[in-house]
Amino acid sequence: KINIWFDCDPGHDDAFTILMMALHPRVNFLGISTEGGNQTVQKTTINALKMLALCNLENKIPVVQGQEHPLMIKNVICPEIHGESGIDGTALLDDLKIPLATNVSKETKEVVEPAIAFMARSIMSCEGKVTIVATARLTNVALLVTVYPKVLEKIERISIMGGSIGMGNTGPSAEFNIEGDPHAAKIVFNLGKKSNIRPTIPIVLVPIEVSHTVLVTESILDRLRESLQETTFCKVCIQLLLFFKKTYQEVFNFDSPPLHDPIAFFYLISPQSFVTKKINIEIVCDSPLTSGETVCDYFGMTNREKNATICEKIVVEEFWDEFIKQMVKVNSI
Ligand code: BDR
Ligand code: CA
Repeated sequence: KINIWFDCDPGHDDAFTILMMALHPRVNFLGISTEGGNQTVQKTTINALKMLALCNLENKIPVVQGQEHPLMIKNVICPEIHGESGIDGTALLDDLKIPLATNVSKETKEVVEPAIAFMARSIMSCEGKVTIVATARLTNVALLVTVYPKVLEKIERISIMGGSIGMGNTGPSAEFNIEGDPHAAKIVFNLGKKSNIRPTIPIVLVPIEVSHTVLVTESILDRLRESLQETTFCKVCIQLLLFFKKTYQEVFNFDSPPLHDPIAFFYLISPQSFVTKKINIEIVCDSPLTSGETVCDYFGMTNREKNATICEKIVVEEFWDEFIKQMVKVNSI
């Protein structure tokens, strides 16, 4: 089994990542940390708890509320894609009973322990090494490795959804998760370089050029409807995906929305479904036009150290087969 810590900002596609991992036989799900991003951190935390509740795991897998703000720049959220709640599109989640996040006080509703302290404890006390799946800004992860560098000895790798080889989705060349906190991304991508004061951490990146091939088409929606057979869970999935489709049509003029985030998890269980390349990736931090760009030195033009494995292609059908298999599992509990 892979020991997984999941850092996210649900967000429709983050939400489906939780559903895809929750009952997966190859996953030992250690916990979830949340960030601001697709919505405020209070909302992304509630959304993570709701997804666990759909799997009856809301009291079994800890959820800790992490950073609302990026390290050095202004906080930007994304209601135009994910709506006011962060997972708009269905009323069927409104009455779900969920607990508070593990690090939030019952009395004050404030965070009483930083998420990274809880993450560090969880990672250090895990028997084996831990893989971090990160599908939001990299603020929590950057703080974790900075404040608790000892965790690096226990991190197997970090699989990230974010960045791009060339095109951007929030700037001309920047992707949302990396543009949202480029300074944090710089810290995390540096971990992939050799250093004599810490271990080198394998970094995997699923960029938008890959996630834009994993589209929730009408035929995927039909497959889901057939496999999940009109249950409430089925309606939740379809309604969420139809909202996501609508906003992707409005904002990007896409026919079908890309399901970005679960791909960073899928890579871990099915690396053979990907074409990858180890390259140098540097992060642009302070530029009016390209801040947040993941500069990918595809042909080694700079001779800089190769610090990340970038996914270039995915066998899309293999992803959907696995995705639907896991949704059927959640549907049958
Ligand atoms: C990324 O941005 C977020 O809106 C999605 O959840 C995904 O993590 C895609 O650029
Ligand atoms: Ca996300």
